[in-house]
Amino acid sequence: MKKLVPYEYPKKFEKLIKLRDGTKILLRPIKPTDADIWVELYNSLSSNTKYLRFFSNMPTPDQRMIDKYTKIDYINKFAIIAIYNENGKDKMIGVVRYGLDPPGSDSAELAVVVADKWQGKGLGTQMLLYMLRVMQKRGVKKVKGDVFLRNDKMMQIMGESGFNLIKEDAYGIRHFEFDL
Ligand SMILES: CC(C)(COP(=O)(O)OP(=O)(O)OC[C@H]1O[C@@H](n2cnc3c(N)ncnc32)[C@H](O)[C@@H]1OP(=O)(O)O)[C@@H](O)C(=O)NCCC(=O)NCCS
Repeated sequence: MKKLVPYEYPKKFEKLIKLRDGTKILLRPIKPTDADIWVELYNSLSSNTKYLRFFSNMPTPDQRMIDKYTKIDYINKFAIIAIYNENGKDKMIGVVRYGLDPPGSDSAELAVVVADKWQGKGLGTQMLLYMLRVMQKRGVKKVKGDVFLRNDKMMQIMGESGFNLIKEDAYGIRHFEFDL
């Protein structure tokens, strides 16, 4: 893995993208100062979206949880957020993240969420594809994750990814793994 100074914000991973309808979105690594907009996004998620993402009924976020998701070392944990600027105010509308598993290895667990009202516009696909490029640049070699079999959108994205997936289905959940 590439050696980095922990906690140094990797600005080079900022990228402007356009949704299918032309809306401009900034993709960038999350920062500790994003805590408030992270909480806004989290609180806005429907229970279905939360369940598909976290596989459980999630609690109201406390400081420990907020820190866990917003203060990352950009090495073992890395998150890219999608920012929509609404009348001069930044709104977080999606997060894609990975965690090296085990820490320090070249294998990573990947997860993504898009705010309910922004789903179906191609954002989740763009975020995932961008994150896979970031992971390659960070030296990640193996990607893994879990998806509910009933999660049509995510199943569609994974099906079209072109990666040679190893799949294992149990309890209504598909575990996938592929080499980058
Ligand atoms: C899964 C998720 C990240 C996808 O993001 P998104 O922005 O909604 O997805 P996209 O708009 O890129 O759509 C992806 C594909 O799903 C399919 N799709 C879109 N809407 C769909 C719908 N209502 N039903 C079935 N498939 C649909 C399309 O094939 C689409 O591909 P296309 O853009 O080529 O048409 C988002 O829906 C989400 O946050 N879901 C809840 C959390 C979650 O499931 N996370 C994944 C597990 S970690």
